[in-house]
Amino acid sequence: MAEPIRVVVTGAAGQIAYSLLYMIARGEVFGSDQPLILHLLDIPPMVGVLEGVVMELADCALPLLRQVIPTTDPSVGFKDVSAAFLVGAMPRKEGMERKDLLSANVKIFKAQGQAIENFAKKDIKVLVVGNPANTNAFVCANYAPSIPRENFSAMTRLDQNRATSQIATKLGVPISAVKNIIIWGNHSSTQYPDAGQGKVVINGETKSVADAVNDNAYLQGAFVETVQKRGAAVISARKMSSAMSAAKAACDHMHDWWNGTAPGTFVSMGVCSDGSYNSPKDVIFSFPVVIENKQWKIVQGLNLSDAAKAKLNITAKELQEEKDEALSVLDLSSNL
Ligand code: NAI
Repeated sequence: MAEPIRVVVTGAAGQIAYSLLYMIARGEVFGSDQPLILHLLDIPPMVGVLEGVVMELADCALPLLRQVIPTTDPSVGFKDVSAAFLVGAMPRKEGMERKDLLSANVKIFKAQGQAIENFAKKDIKVLVVGNPANTNAFVCANYAPSIPRENFSAMTRLDQNRATSQIATKLGVPISAVKNIIIWGNHSSTQYPDAGQGKVVINGETKSVADAVNDNAYLQGAFVETVQKRGAAVISARKMSSAMSAAKAACDHMHDWWNGTAPGTFVSMGVCSDGSYNSPKDVIFSFPVVIENKQWKIVQGLNLSDAAKAKLNITAKELQEEKDEALSVLDLSSNL
């Protein structure tokens, strides 16, 4: 069997981590023959809860799990880790302005970027889940200059999974029959869920989702809105935000990054923009990507309608504004 790899989950005492840790430790991300040492990072007030999580992981009796290291010290949390799930973040509290939220999170992700720079493996893969995920990933990457930018990403896979599920339900097919639904831009309500490149297998025949659904008003209207507002709908029903589905999406994201995408299939990831599809450069923008040898590549040459381009501009503008606000909090120059 392979040597164990170290994986850190931040926000390890929180609700997403409660599902995520189990899925990782079961081997669902790095494989059923890859032993793991899990680092659980949270903040001092959560030490008691963290102890409970450690007990439960032990009680799961998971064969791949070689060691669990709970900590509140980022220098321990990130030491020699190969993969990081940055879930912990400052939640929005009543009366908090967007700027206050951004400011609190910018500080957290600056500190974690510095810890990654100083203690993690240089080929670490970092997935930011904590919101605002795209801008947090941008900040984190900037404070880890010796790690390639390509190794930082933000999660829009939950949005992709939600969108794929909506299409599968609409067409009455299993989820596995639908692929290549794209999330563009920010993990926020400005994201653009795009079924325009989607493919579906019906009765053994591959068709475009657009032809199979045959309802452009739905694909441009109710479908987009349902996906954009799904997080709010879950909160309204559950009185807590998405957790099980967020954990599953984080596993899917890291699994595909680690293992690659199947031929002809792409997935959506928030990655550092090179300006593709007229997006602003150097923001963390969700694009369709293909992955091989742990390297992602933005899928090029997709035809976008004028309506789609207009939607990309809206989410791009929001990301640019978030980045500028983050930079002003950090007092950094925008040519970082
Ligand atoms: P939660 O509030 O249950 O847990 C968050 C945990 O993070 C807490 O245990 C807290 O103590 C910890 N934490 C706070 N600051 C920390 C720091 N500096 N270092 C380490 N740990 C820290 O929240 P939940 O439900 O687990 O969600 C976590 C984040 O994920 C939130 O920001 C949420 O908005 C975001 N999220 C993102 C999604 C996406 O699709 N990108 C989907 C769903 C949630």
